[in-house]
Amino acid sequence: MKIEYNKSLKEYNTFGIDVTADEFIKITSEDELLQVISKYNNKDIFILSGGSNMLLTKNIEKLVVHIAIKGIESKLQPDNTVLVSAQAGENWHDFVQYCIQNNYGGLENLSLIPGYVGSAPIQNIGAYGVELKDTFISCDAIGLKSGKKHTFSSKECEFGYRNSIFKNKAKNKYVITKVTFKLTAKNHILNQSYGAIENALAEKNISTPTIKDISEAVIQIRKSKLPDPSEIGNSGSFFKNPVISSNVFNKLQASYPEIPHYVIDDTSIKVPAGWLIEQCGFKGKRWGDAGVHKKQALVLVNYDNASGEEILDISKKIQQEVMNKFSIELETEVNII
Ligand code: EPU
Repeated sequence: MKIEYNKSLKEYNTFGIDVTADEFIKITSEDELLQVISKYNNKDIFILSGGSNMLLTKNIEKLVVHIAIKGIESKLQPDNTVLVSAQAGENWHDFVQYCIQNNYGGLENLSLIPGYVGSAPIQNIGAYGVELKDTFISCDAIGLKSGKKHTFSSKECEFGYRNSIFKNKAKNKYVITKVTFKLTAKNHILNQSYGAIENALAEKNISTPTIKDISEAVIQIRKSKLPDPSEIGNSGSFFKNPVISSNVFNKLQASYPEIPHYVIDDTSIKVPAGWLIEQCGFKGKRWGDAGVHKKQALVLVNYDNASGEEILDISKKIQQEVMNKFSIELETEVNII
């Protein structure tokens, strides 16, 4: 294991923010991780995997451990399902494509989400009607202080909308090393009800889609409105979609009859943050190299050399304007470091 000093993290976060790590180690096996944990026992360690859900606003004056443990295993079950385990350092989209090539169904709607497998459970990634928790069985994690391994069941992960125990009680306490999913090997249960997927399939005259067709539709939709982090730095949705009470929603709808929304239950309604932000006039705005994406106002972007602070300033302006105009508080989805 090589320790690098004053290492630039630009290549290690999808926003492409150029901050440095005092010390940086890339680990490629669980054994190496255990060695690092025992050697740096009393030191603060910062775990970095795909860097796809964070905004780095300052240099990391700590040891940064980049998780690059690779490997995928699958075990067919007698009931036509398959247990597929991927190590934390696998690229998420490559893993989804591996599943599709092997005809394992369940993750196709989550195609093209940036990041690594190990961070997917932290925010319970979700898109186009599917969330990670729908097929998640367990994840192995190692305690950062104890060096002890624990397997978290789905229940223990306390999954919610873009949320889990790893963003709350267990925050910064564990490194996830492996994630196991239960997928279908036959008789796939397709989720194509999301309007944009239906439209993309209809355009191609596909009436009985395969999991590959769904994946391709999702890829097409994502490419049409979300910026590719390898071209324009970003972390996907910067904010969560706020959930408001039906009373508040009804008043809002009286003024904005066209407001898009998803009913959650009798008393709560989710409204798209992207719509609220667009109504405040931010869509496509740019300040230097930092801005709001022109096709999806929920995504903040780094066109070239923006600093984390510049992106953070825009996010605060947005939160303030949305509060002023709609009295709704926007919560960040991205972790601000
Ligand atoms: N909208 C606008 N203006 C915008 C953006 C959206 O009016 O600039 C409106 C759209 O017209 C639509 C509604 O808002 O009526 C919803 O938009 P969209 O389908 O693009 O989804 P979203 O709610 O903005 C969520 C997830 C995305 C996920 C999509 C598809 C969150 C925070 N974001 O976005 O997740 O891909 O649904 O399922 O829940 C991510 O988490 O990084 C992410 C990209």
